[in-house]
Amino acid sequence: MTNSSPAQLIDGIALSREIRADIAHRTSLLKQKGITPGLAVVLVGDNQASQVYVRNKVKACADAGLHSVLEQYPASMSEDDLLARIDALNTDASIHGILVQLPLPAHIDAQKVIEAIAPSKDVDGFHVNSAGALMVGRPGFWPCTPYGCMKMLESIGFDLKGKHAVVIGRSNIVGKPMALMLLQKNATVTICHSGTKDLKAMTLQADVIVAAVGKVNVLTADMVKPGAVVIDVGMNRNALGKLCGDVDFEGVKQVASYITPVPGGVGPMTITMLLVNTVEAAERLAAGG
Ligand code: GUN
Repeated sequence: MTNSSPAQLIDGIALSREIRADIAHRTSLLKQKGITPGLAVVLVGDNQASQVYVRNKVKACADAGLHSVLEQYPASMSEDDLLARIDALNTDASIHGILVQLPLPAHIDAQKVIEAIAPSKDVDGFHVNSAGALMVGRPGFWPCTPYGCMKMLESIGFDLKGKHAVVIGRSNIVGKPMALMLLQKNATVTICHSGTKDLKAMTLQADVIVAAVGKVNVLTADMVKPGAVVIDVGMNRNALGKLCGDVDFEGVKQVASYITPVPGGVGPMTITMLLVNTVEAAERLAAGG
């Protein structure tokens, strides 16, 4: 069954532009108090995709008036040396947010490195303190990608109360925090994953679907209830080498009421929410911690 008209796009570029204008304003207010929000981005190794991501993050900081430093280290860097760098950044007064780009080389324990970041500077929201704060509904930093998805739902005025949300994927970075954020807004939440027996039976019940698996065509039109809202977190290359999400966009847009495109959907929102968290970190410090 198809919807009467194709889905409306939720434009992550346009929404990012609005939020980044607000961030630039908040940054200018902090600068009047002598504080420039600062982000440190740490990249270890030569992962090509990571290099693009960190460059985009640093550029976004500059465009919004934030201070940023990019620290790049060879893949051979030891875990101890990386932990020492984190320690130094934790006490660096010009840095309000620390982001260690993942994945890290295999000889480094990523979770140990994340736990070394001061929770007050954990703008990625990956520290157990941040995860715990989200879990119990206390102030903290929300992971940027699911936070961006929530802003996209907010932008279309979607009231989650009593709605059924299905999250496909259970990563610590997207799926799990996404489910908690949706729950906090009073949705009924189902988390699906590789062990789910009948994914289609679940997604067909959903008013909102968030696809965050990292696999092409995880969600196709026959799996979507007419009028559902579809958020695509995937960032994949199809057989032709073209950038695409987890959702069969052409098919699903005939059924959904709203859909996020790839590229130009969740991707820009992730970076935008990193800026939001960094400015928030600086504002909290300015307000006395
Ligand atoms: N690698 C893929 N996504 C992310 C992210 O949001 N933050 C960090 N630090 N690394 C990532």
